[in-house]
Amino acid sequence: MSTSANYDSAQVTASPRSTPIDVAVRAAPPKTAVIGAGGFLGRQLLAAYRAYYPDTLGTLRDPSGGEPRLDLAAVDIAPLRLAEAGYEAAIIAAGLTNVAACQRNSQFAVSRNVTGTLRLASQLAALGIKTVFLSSDYVFDGIHGGYDDDAVPRPLNVYGACKAQVERRLPDVCGDNYLIVRLSKVFGLIAGDGTLLDEMAALLSQGKVVRAAADQVFCPTYVHDVVRAIHFLQAAGATGTYNVCAPEAWRRADLAAAVAAAIGAPPTLVETISLSDLGEGFARPRHTDMQCRKLAAICSPHAPIEFRSIRACIELVVAYYTRRSKSDGKNGTRAERAA
Ligand SMILES: NC(=O)c1ccc[n+]([C@@H]2O[C@H](COP(=O)([O-])OP(=O)(O)OC[C@H]3O[C@@H](n4cnc5c(N)ncnc54)[C@H](OP(=O)(O)O)[C@@H]3O)[C@@H](O)[C@H]2O)c1
Repeated sequence: MSTSANYDSAQVTASPRSTPIDVAVRAAPPKTAVIGAGGFLGRQLLAAYRAYYPDTLGTLRDPSGGEPRLDLAAVDIAPLRLAEAGYEAAIIAAGLTNVAACQRNSQFAVSRNVTGTLRLASQLAALGIKTVFLSSDYVFDGIHGGYDDDAVPRPLNVYGACKAQVERRLPDVCGDNYLIVRLSKVFGLIAGDGTLLDEMAALLSQGKVVRAAADQVFCPTYVHDVVRAIHFLQAAGATGTYNVCAPEAWRRADLAAAVAAAIGAPPTLVETISLSDLGEGFARPRHTDMQCRKLAAICSPHAPIEFRSIRACIELVVAYYTRRSKSDGKNGTRAERAA
């Protein structure tokens, strides 16, 4: 893809909180298969596990080549021969993630996101393989925000309800051999990846309007930090439920305003709305910011898990789009990429 430059290669130096911990100095995670290796998180997870175990297996729902297949609609892990290959864990990054689509076709969503997912966990448990499940801050009702790891889920929509149901059932299915990693909004730093900041910067740099809700608060988290935290939890032998997100709670509208200011776009390009203005016909939780008390508690005070600051990430994304529009203006070309 033409827009595949990684902002990250420019290295973030803008924030004292931007120094990532060095995974290499921590213990390696156990050998872990990635179920759903074609998605946004699955791709990053697979690449990161392969740094430890080059032959790490990643499954796809609908492989085009010789990749291993796993469809949550008809789960059968026997052909993967995970136990024989020495896998101790499998991370489930597969699932229907479009919240509106889950709402439109709840039966279909439940069959994959609950039934298929629990069937997979059950088959893994039978082999003594630990399930690592990626859950979401959408398990919460979003009324108060600041949710602790042990806060009681009260989902408002089908997507959140599926996550909450898997969270609730996993202990029955797996005993204590499971890890639930509850995530907030995760973004990447690949130019053109269309994730949170990139999407905003791309629109604003073209003079287009960004509609952003002032009543939607979450903890945007850089994907590499998520991967690092998961590896850390696995290496530490963590079981149970852990919130994993950056410590900064942001309103979506403030995030858009910060991107606009950094890019030099007129503030009027940020149209501040309310979630209800989306007219989706279902509810989204408003304040899903979470506390990562348990994650902090198992880290050494001398080596906390560091999360990249959002301002530093905005600077990287904006620097790319600013350079690109200068180059467009000069050469009439969009060829310039992040270094
Ligand atoms: N990204 C976030 O901000 C975020 C936040 C909280 C939680 N999470 C959770 O983290 C996990 C990964 O998220 P993501 O952002 O990487 O999502 P994603 O990019 O949408 O990836 C989901 C993957 O699941 C696969 N999939 C869909 N239906 C499947 C099925 N029936 N059988 C097997 N695979 C299937 C998709 O494959 P196809 O494309 O072939 O359908 C896709 O590769 C999800 O469980 C999500 O709910 C993500």
